[in-house]
Amino acid sequence: MNGERGSFGSQLGVILASAGSAVGLGNIWRFPTEVGRGGGAAFILIYLGFIFLMAMPVMLSEFVIGRSARSNAIGAFQKLSPGKPWIAAGIMGVLGGFLVLSFYSVVAGWTLYYTIQSALGQLTSGSEMVNGKWLNGKWTMDFAQAFTAFVSDPWQPIICLAVFMLLTHLVVARGIQHGIERYSKLMMPMLLVIIVLLVGFSLTMPGAAEGIRFLLQPDLNAVTPDVVLGAMGQAFFSLSVGLGCLVTYSSYFSKETRLVKSAMNVCIIDTAVAVLSGFIIFPTVFSVGIAPDAGPGLVFITLPNVFALSLGAMPIVGYAFALLFYVLLLLAALTSSISMHEICTAFISEHFQQSRHKAAAIVTVICLVLGCFCSLSFGPWQEVTVFGRGFFDLFDFTVTKFLMPLGGLLMTLFVGWYLDRKLVEQQLTNNGRIPVRTMRPLLFLVRWVAPFGILVIFLNELFPLFL
Ligand code: PHE
Repeated sequence: MNGERGSFGSQLGVILASAGSAVGLGNIWRFPTEVGRGGGAAFILIYLGFIFLMAMPVMLSEFVIGRSARSNAIGAFQKLSPGKPWIAAGIMGVLGGFLVLSFYSVVAGWTLYYTIQSALGQLTSGSEMVNGKWLNGKWTMDFAQAFTAFVSDPWQPIICLAVFMLLTHLVVARGIQHGIERYSKLMMPMLLVIIVLLVGFSLTMPGAAEGIRFLLQPDLNAVTPDVVLGAMGQAFFSLSVGLGCLVTYSSYFSKETRLVKSAMNVCIIDTAVAVLSGFIIFPTVFSVGIAPDAGPGLVFITLPNVFALSLGAMPIVGYAFALLFYVLLLLAALTSSISMHEICTAFISEHFQQSRHKAAAIVTVICLVLGCFCSLSFGPWQEVTVFGRGFFDLFDFTVTKFLMPLGGLLMTLFVGWYLDRKLVEQQLTNNGRIPVRTMRPLLFLVRWVAPFGILVIFLNELFPLFL
């Protein structure tokens, strides 16, 4: 498809593909973890502020850049500001795309493994996956030990990682309409149905009220500066902004696509899924009396425990709940990894004039190798560190704490201050064909609130590292 750019075929495709990128492990795995640490509703409120005041303006800026340039993340800056240093934002984005896909696929691989295990009934019935012990007269499986044993194994997680990467590859290689759009239209509705089913399940669990209270009652004492920083990182990660992922996707939007409306829809779907995931996880976790701040092990240790402990008495319900939950996580991970892959594939295919298949294959191989580094950092390479961090941590840190905020900062500055104001307004109003009554406040967010907010928080976060 050299020279021939793909495009999304429908408005629904635009929304579902962009929402697919946004809704991911970040919503279902990371968000509840951060909520648990950050005092329930208090964290959610701060998070909402970041979503609508800072991350959404970055998303809009990415849309404006992508649709006006109709090019990949680096090519877009070359077109809109030839020979200017703004291209750094694009380069950081593509680099970030490689890094994020590499570590994300490791966790997605774990998800695949847990999906298979739950399909085989290993999470609910007495299983070989885990050792067990008698606890209060009940046979209890040691999921913490099982999880550690699995992730530190040199082979199993890498095989899962490779299979997941291959799935991502197969979708991306098929192109925009036949790959990304088609599969987003298939997977996103499935994902939404599963979420509704699981929320229904979890709200009827005994003791669910406790979990709901935790989610809705703000605990202001838990809010530390760290929690506030975490909320911004989470908002950016969750909306996939700052890496040019949405520059790439919006380069496939048609001239009829309404940018402001699409951005709002994506923000609302993403936030709804995050909060609903909280409604799945907390009532379930509280119903067996486990502490909510269980950290990243929440969905791989705490939840299997819940499935086995409280749902063990109702084997069919336990089986269905566990399986649906991991399928949900897997679908969410896949629609996001596709968008990370596309940042890199679009760049390689356009910049080096390669076919989509070849470009996708190059990205897959590079990320697979980097992904192995990340996976091994939980096992045999635990001691191998760069700047004091293992590979997984290093990649995660570089992307979420560094490249995303910096990319978001540059992109809002680019659209708010560098690009011709007329061009920006034309993009937002589809050449004056649709009125955007919120134009002034939106531009205010893009020019002032988002960049300066990001800058303050970014510096606050980075300074302690160098002191
Ligand atoms: N938004 C995705 C999630 O919540 C992660 C992501 C980050 C996707 C960056 C694309 C680019 O899981």
